[in-house]
Amino acid sequence: MSESPIHFHVLTLFPDMFSPMQRQGIFSRALSQNLIKLSLYDIRDYTTDRHRQVDDYPFGGGPGMLMKPEPVFSAVDSIKKQLDSNKIPTILISPQGNRFSHKKAMEFSENKNIILICGRYEGFDERIRQQLATDEISLGDFVVSGGEIPAMLLIDAISRLVPNVVGSADSIENDSFFNGLLQFPQYTRPASFRNMEVPHVLLSGNHEEIRKWRETKSIEKTYKTRPDLLDKLELTQDQKTIVESLDGDNK
Ligand SMILES: C[S@@+](CC[C@H](N)C(=O)[O-])C[C@H]1O[C@@H](n2cnc3c(N)ncnc32)[C@H](O)[C@@H]1O
Repeated sequence: MSESPIHFHVLTLFPDMFSPMQRQGIFSRALSQNLIKLSLYDIRDYTTDRHRQVDDYPFGGGPGMLMKPEPVFSAVDSIKKQLDSNKIPTILISPQGNRFSHKKAMEFSENKNIILICGRYEGFDERIRQQLATDEISLGDFVVSGGEIPAMLLIDAISRLVPNVVGSADSIENDSFFNGLLQFPQYTRPASFRNMEVPHVLLSGNHEEIRKWRETKSIEKTYKTRPDLLDKLELTQDQKTIVESLDGDNK
Protein backbone atom coordinates (compact mmCIF):
# COMPACT_ATOMS: atom_id res chain seq x y z
CA MET A 1 0.00 0.00 0.00
CA SER A 2 1.29 3.47 -0.84
CA GLU A 3 2.24 5.88 1.94
CA SER A 4 -0.66 8.19 2.82
CA PRO A 5 -0.13 11.79 1.62
CA ILE A 6 -1.08 13.35 4.96
CA HIS A 7 -0.87 12.04 8.50
CA PHE A 8 -2.68 13.83 11.36
CA HIS A 9 -1.30 13.29 14.88
CA VAL A 10 -3.82 14.44 17.49
CA LEU A 11 -3.01 14.99 21.16
CA THR A 12 -6.16 14.83 23.24
CA LEU A 13 -7.56 13.83 26.61
CA PHE A 14 -10.58 12.31 24.84
CA PRO A 15 -9.41 10.11 21.94
CA ASP A 16 -12.78 8.30 21.82
CA MET A 17 -14.43 11.49 20.58
CA PHE A 18 -12.74 10.87 17.23
CA SER A 19 -14.34 7.42 16.74
CA PRO A 20 -17.51 8.50 14.87
CA MET A 21 -15.60 10.44 12.22
CA GLN A 22 -13.41 7.41 11.59
CA ARG A 23 -16.45 5.23 10.97
CA GLN A 24 -18.57 7.38 8.65
CA GLY A 25 -18.57 9.30 5.42
CA ILE A 26 -15.84 10.66 3.21
CA PHE A 27 -13.26 10.73 6.00
CA SER A 28 -13.75 7.07 6.84
CA ARG A 29 -13.41 6.07 3.18
CA ALA A 30 -10.24 8.15 2.81
CA LEU A 31 -8.74 6.43 5.86
CA SER A 32 -9.49 2.98 4.51
CA GLN A 33 -8.01 3.93 1.11
CA ASN A 34 -4.88 5.15 2.90
CA LEU A 35 -5.29 8.64 1.44
CA ILE A 36 -5.02 10.08 4.93
CA LYS A 37 -3.91 8.74 8.29
CA LEU A 38 -5.05 9.63 11.80
CA SER A 39 -3.11 8.78 14.97
CA LEU A 40 -4.53 9.64 18.38
CA TYR A 41 -2.33 10.19 21.44
CA ASP A 42 -3.90 10.24 24.88
CA ILE A 43 -2.04 13.03 26.70
CA ARG A 44 -2.58 11.18 29.98
CA ASP A 45 -0.33 8.37 28.69
CA TYR A 46 2.59 10.83 28.78
CA THR A 47 2.29 11.66 32.50
CA THR A 48 4.83 10.20 34.87
CA ASP A 49 3.08 10.57 38.25
CA ARG A 50 0.88 8.05 40.01
CA HIS A 51 -2.30 10.08 39.49
CA ARG A 52 -1.64 10.67 35.78
CA GLN A 53 -2.29 14.36 36.35
CA VAL A 54 -2.66 16.49 33.22
CA ASP A 55 -3.93 19.75 34.76
CA ASP A 56 -3.06 22.06 37.63
CA TYR A 57 -4.04 25.37 39.25
CA PRO A 58 -2.93 28.61 37.58
CA PHE A 59 -0.12 30.49 39.32
CA GLY A 60 -1.43 33.81 40.58
CA GLY A 61 -4.88 32.37 41.22
CA GLY A 62 -8.04 32.40 39.17
CA PRO A 63 -10.78 29.97 38.26
CA GLY A 64 -10.29 26.53 36.74
CA MET A 65 -7.29 24.46 35.81
CA LEU A 66 -4.67 24.63 33.07
CA MET A 67 -3.11 21.88 30.99
CA LYS A 68 0.31 21.09 32.39
CA PRO A 69 3.27 21.43 30.06
CA GLU A 70 5.21 18.20 30.80
CA PRO A 71 2.89 15.56 29.24
CA VAL A 72 2.16 17.72 26.18
CA PHE A 73 5.88 18.39 25.55
CA SER A 74 6.66 14.73 26.11
CA ALA A 75 3.97 13.57 23.63
CA VAL A 76 5.14 16.02 20.94
CA ASP A 77 8.80 15.02 21.50
CA SER A 78 7.89 11.37 21.11
CA ILE A 79 6.00 11.98 17.82
CA LYS A 80 8.88 14.03 16.40
CA LYS A 81 11.35 11.33 17.42
CA GLN A 82 9.22 8.66 15.79
CA LEU A 83 9.08 10.76 12.58
CA ASP A 84 12.77 11.62 12.88
CA SER A 85 12.02 15.30 12.29
CA ASN A 86 11.94 18.45 14.37
CA LYS A 87 10.04 20.40 11.75
CA ILE A 88 6.48 19.12 12.02
CA PRO A 89 3.75 21.82 11.90
CA THR A 90 2.24 21.79 15.40
CA ILE A 91 -1.16 23.43 15.66
CA LEU A 92 -2.44 24.62 19.00
CA ILE A 93 -6.23 24.54 18.83
CA SER A 94 -7.27 27.67 20.67
CA PRO A 95 -9.83 30.49 20.58
CA GLN A 96 -6.89 32.90 20.82
CA GLY A 97 -5.43 31.78 17.50
CA ASN A 98 -5.64 33.01 13.93
CA ARG A 99 -9.01 32.35 12.35
CA PHE A 100 -9.16 29.13 10.31
CA SER A 101 -10.00 29.56 6.62
CA HIS A 102 -9.98 27.83 3.25
CA LYS A 103 -6.59 29.46 2.58
CA LYS A 104 -5.11 27.98 5.75
CA ALA A 105 -6.63 24.58 4.97
CA MET A 106 -4.90 24.72 1.56
CA GLU A 107 -1.56 25.56 3.18
CA PHE A 108 -1.84 22.82 5.80
CA SER A 109 -2.86 20.26 3.15
CA GLU A 110 0.66 20.57 1.65
CA ASN A 111 2.21 18.84 4.70
CA LYS A 112 2.94 15.16 5.14
CA ASN A 113 2.52 15.27 8.93
CA ILE A 114 0.58 17.66 11.17
CA ILE A 115 0.39 17.61 14.96
CA LEU A 116 -2.77 19.05 16.56
CA ILE A 117 -2.98 19.79 20.29
CA CYS A 118 -6.50 19.86 21.75
CA GLY A 119 -7.02 21.94 24.87
CA ARG A 120 -9.40 21.40 27.79
CA TYR A 121 -10.16 23.17 31.06
CA GLU A 122 -9.10 26.86 31.00
CA GLY A 123 -6.58 26.16 28.26
CA PHE A 124 -2.81 25.71 28.15
CA ASP A 125 0.22 26.61 30.18
CA GLU A 126 1.69 29.49 28.12
CA ARG A 127 4.98 27.60 27.52
CA ILE A 128 3.10 25.14 25.30
CA ARG A 129 1.97 28.09 23.17
CA GLN A 130 5.41 29.71 23.11
CA GLN A 131 7.69 26.71 22.62
CA LEU A 132 5.73 23.89 20.99
CA ALA A 133 3.16 25.47 18.70
CA THR A 134 4.14 26.55 15.21
CA ASP A 135 0.56 27.76 14.59
CA GLU A 136 -2.34 28.71 16.84
CA ILE A 137 -5.70 28.25 15.14
CA SER A 138 -9.17 29.32 16.20
CA LEU A 139 -12.51 28.28 14.77
CA GLY A 140 -14.08 31.65 15.53
CA ASP A 141 -14.88 34.21 18.17
CA PHE A 142 -16.60 31.92 20.64
CA VAL A 143 -15.47 29.40 23.24
CA VAL A 144 -16.27 25.69 23.27
CA SER A 145 -15.36 23.26 26.03
CA GLY A 146 -12.53 21.46 24.29
CA GLY A 147 -10.28 21.38 21.24
CA GLU A 148 -11.56 18.04 19.92
CA ILE A 149 -14.53 19.30 17.88
CA PRO A 150 -12.49 22.19 16.40
CA ALA A 151 -9.68 19.69 15.61
CA MET A 152 -12.14 17.41 13.80
CA LEU A 153 -13.36 20.37 11.76
CA LEU A 154 -9.80 21.30 10.80
CA ILE A 155 -8.93 17.72 9.90
CA ASP A 156 -12.07 17.35 7.80
CA ALA A 157 -11.53 20.63 5.93
CA ILE A 158 -7.85 19.85 5.25
CA SER A 159 -8.59 16.26 4.20
CA ARG A 160 -11.13 17.36 1.58
CA LEU A 161 -8.30 19.13 -0.24
CA VAL A 162 -6.10 16.01 -0.42
CA PRO A 163 -6.30 14.57 -3.95
CA ASN A 164 -8.95 11.85 -4.40
CA VAL A 165 -10.49 12.25 -0.91
CA VAL A 166 -13.56 13.92 -2.40
CA GLY A 167 -14.75 11.91 -5.41
CA SER A 168 -14.75 14.71 -7.97
CA ALA A 169 -12.28 17.61 -8.01
CA ASP A 170 -15.12 19.72 -9.49
CA SER A 171 -17.16 19.51 -6.32
CA ILE A 172 -14.31 21.05 -4.30
CA GLU A 173 -13.75 23.74 -6.91
CA ASN A 174 -17.46 24.64 -6.81
CA ASP A 175 -17.45 24.87 -3.01
CA SER A 176 -17.78 28.22 -1.30
CA PHE A 177 -14.42 29.99 -0.76
CA PHE A 178 -12.49 27.95 -3.35
CA ASN A 179 -12.59 30.86 -5.81
CA GLY A 180 -13.04 33.43 -3.06
CA LEU A 181 -16.86 33.59 -3.41
CA LEU A 182 -19.83 31.89 -1.76
CA GLN A 183 -21.42 29.13 -3.79
CA PHE A 184 -24.37 29.85 -6.11
CA PRO A 185 -27.85 28.48 -5.17
CA GLN A 186 -28.46 24.84 -6.12
CA TYR A 187 -31.68 22.90 -6.76
CA THR A 188 -32.61 19.29 -7.29
CA ARG A 189 -35.80 17.45 -8.34
CA PRO A 190 -38.71 18.17 -8.29
CA ALA A 191 -38.55 21.23 -10.57
CA SER A 192 -41.74 22.52 -8.99
CA PHE A 193 -42.35 22.14 -5.25
CA ARG A 194 -45.12 23.84 -3.23
CA ASN A 195 -45.37 26.54 -5.90
CA MET A 196 -41.62 27.17 -5.73
CA GLU A 197 -40.09 26.83 -9.18
CA VAL A 198 -36.50 26.04 -10.06
CA PRO A 199 -35.06 28.95 -12.11
CA HIS A 200 -35.81 28.25 -15.75
CA VAL A 201 -32.23 28.73 -16.94
CA LEU A 202 -31.09 25.67 -14.93
CA LEU A 203 -33.51 23.49 -16.89
CA SER A 204 -32.50 25.00 -20.26
CA GLY A 205 -29.47 22.80 -20.97
CA ASN A 206 -27.60 25.95 -22.16
CA HIS A 207 -24.25 25.56 -20.41
CA GLU A 208 -22.99 29.08 -21.09
CA GLU A 209 -26.22 30.65 -19.77
CA ILE A 210 -26.08 28.39 -16.71
CA ARG A 211 -22.43 29.37 -16.07
CA LYS A 212 -23.32 33.10 -16.31
CA TRP A 213 -26.36 32.71 -14.04
CA ARG A 214 -24.28 30.86 -11.45
CA GLU A 215 -21.53 33.47 -11.53
CA THR A 216 -24.07 36.28 -11.07
CA LYS A 217 -25.83 34.49 -8.19
CA SER A 218 -22.53 33.63 -6.54
CA ILE A 219 -21.52 37.30 -6.59
CA GLU A 220 -24.98 38.42 -5.43
CA LYS A 221 -24.88 36.04 -2.47
CA THR A 222 -21.35 37.08 -1.51
CA TYR A 223 -22.29 40.76 -1.90
CA LYS A 224 -25.24 40.33 0.46
CA THR A 225 -23.76 38.13 3.19
CA ARG A 226 -19.97 38.41 2.97
CA PRO A 227 -19.00 41.65 1.22
CA ASP A 228 -15.59 41.43 2.95
CA LEU A 229 -14.76 38.51 0.62
CA LEU A 230 -15.34 40.67 -2.46
CA ASP A 231 -12.94 43.31 -1.17
CA LYS A 232 -10.12 40.74 -1.20
CA LEU A 233 -10.80 39.51 -4.75
CA GLU A 234 -9.30 40.52 -8.06
CA LEU A 235 -12.58 40.68 -10.04
CA THR A 236 -12.88 40.12 -13.78
CA GLN A 237 -14.53 42.84 -15.86
CA ASP A 238 -17.77 40.80 -16.01
CA GLN A 239 -17.76 40.37 -12.25
CA LYS A 240 -17.11 44.10 -11.71
CA THR A 241 -20.13 44.87 -13.89
CA ILE A 242 -22.30 42.60 -11.72
CA VAL A 243 -21.05 44.29 -8.53
CA GLU A 244 -21.66 47.76 -10.03
CA SER A 245 -25.23 46.85 -10.86
CA LEU A 246 -25.73 45.57 -7.29
CA ASP A 247 -24.26 48.85 -5.98
CA GLY A 248 -26.74 50.69 -8.23
CA ASP A 249 -29.68 48.65 -6.87
CA ASN A 250 -28.65 49.50 -3.32
CA LYS A 251 -28.43 53.27 -3.78
C1 LIG B 1 -12.85 26.25 27.60
S1 LIG B 1 -11.66 26.45 26.35
C2 LIG B 1 -10.46 27.47 27.11
C3 LIG B 1 -10.54 28.89 26.69
C4 LIG B 1 -9.48 29.78 27.34
N1 LIG B 1 -9.79 30.03 28.71
C5 LIG B 1 -9.39 31.11 26.58
O1 LIG B 1 -10.09 32.05 26.95
O2 LIG B 1 -8.62 31.19 25.62
C6 LIG B 1 -10.88 24.87 26.30
C7 LIG B 1 -10.27 24.52 24.97
O3 LIG B 1 -11.26 24.45 23.97
C8 LIG B 1 -10.69 24.74 22.72
N2 LIG B 1 -11.43 25.86 22.12
C9 LIG B 1 -12.41 26.58 22.68
N3 LIG B 1 -12.91 27.48 21.84
C10 LIG B 1 -12.25 27.35 20.69
C11 LIG B 1 -12.29 28.02 19.44
N4 LIG B 1 -13.12 29.02 19.20
N5 LIG B 1 -11.44 27.61 18.47
C12 LIG B 1 -10.57 26.61 18.68
N6 LIG B 1 -10.48 25.95 19.87
C13 LIG B 1 -11.30 26.31 20.86
C14 LIG B 1 -9.23 25.07 22.95
O4 LIG B 1 -8.45 23.93 22.70
C15 LIG B 1 -9.23 25.45 24.42
O5 LIG B 1 -7.97 25.28 25.01
